[in-house]
Amino acid sequence: MAGYRKVAIVTGGASGIGKAICNELVSKNVFVIISDINERDGKNFEAELNKEAINSRFVHLNVTEFKSVERVINEVYQEFNRLDYLFNNAGIAMYGELFDMSIEDWKEIVDINLWGVINGTQIGYKIMKEQGFGHIVNTASAAGLGPSPISSAYSTTKHAVVGLTTSLHYEAEQFGIKVSALCPTFVDTPIFDEAKAININKSIITKQLKKQKMMSPQQLAKIALDGIHKNKPVICPMPMRRTMNVIFTIFPPAHSALMRLVCKVSRKARIV
Ligand SMILES: NC(=O)c1ccc[n+]([C@@H]2O[C@H](COP(=O)([O-])OP(=O)(O)OC[C@H]3O[C@@H](n4cnc5c(N)ncnc54)[C@H](O)[C@@H]3O)[C@@H](O)[C@H]2O)c1
Repeated sequence: MAGYRKVAIVTGGASGIGKAICNELVSKNVFVIISDINERDGKNFEAELNKEAINSRFVHLNVTEFKSVERVINEVYQEFNRLDYLFNNAGIAMYGELFDMSIEDWKEIVDINLWGVINGTQIGYKIMKEQGFGHIVNTASAAGLGPSPISSAYSTTKHAVVGLTTSLHYEAEQFGIKVSALCPTFVDTPIFDEAKAININKSIITKQLKKQKMMSPQQLAKIALDGIHKNKPVICPMPMRRTMNVIFTIFPPAHSALMRLVCKVSRKARIV
């Protein structure tokens, strides 16, 4: 297998967006390393992808552990002699008023959503520099491009991922390495049901969010791979994005009003 087939590592590959990206990569004959903290779902998915041919391997990984991330990425590189794609995608969602949050809540989300991405990028980038090619794709969010009230911690981590990724996009190009930030809006995955809700009635928030027109993970994965192919620094598939940008630029109070509405609606879900 070594030598000719492209190889990708996808963190958070056992569910939602990561899973759809793995499926899409396999359809393009890329061998995928599904890495996830969820062993059961990861192994089931590995079996599904390997039904017709050996297309994948599941590796248990907690992205917050630098040494484990280092071991997984290094072992893949040693075995396959290449690392074509690294998707730092694992992440969690968290809702809550800032005054309801503890410092432990902050540490939990920063550890997974930001340090998880830094750990992967730091190791994958050096390997890609050595081999002279490769593409790092970090999953941020539309919440990394603008405010996301009552999800400030989530938004903080995603802004940081956008900053890291778009800066590295230019820093890396001299070495033949491509770097992109994936910034989805609403994608129909388990993330909403799994989200940590701090002093918030999660079912109210989830119900509100599910009123949004959600994209399927499969649709998102196709758009993501197209954006990756074009080496876009930011891939942000948001319906009406251009129209909204124009409206908000011409009429900034519309954006402020929308953010205040988000606050008002989310606050109704607060447990008093
Ligand atoms: N679904 C959306 O609407 C949406 C929108 C914007 C951004 N995103 C981002 O997309 C990424 C994927 O989210 P999703 O919607 O597919 O969610 P998901 O819950 O379906 O999948 C997330 C995966 O990450 C794994 N994971 C969590 N913590 C981990 C850890 N410490 N180490 C390794 N794996 C871990 C989970 O086990 C799960 O398989 C996340 O970074 C999320 O913030 C999602």
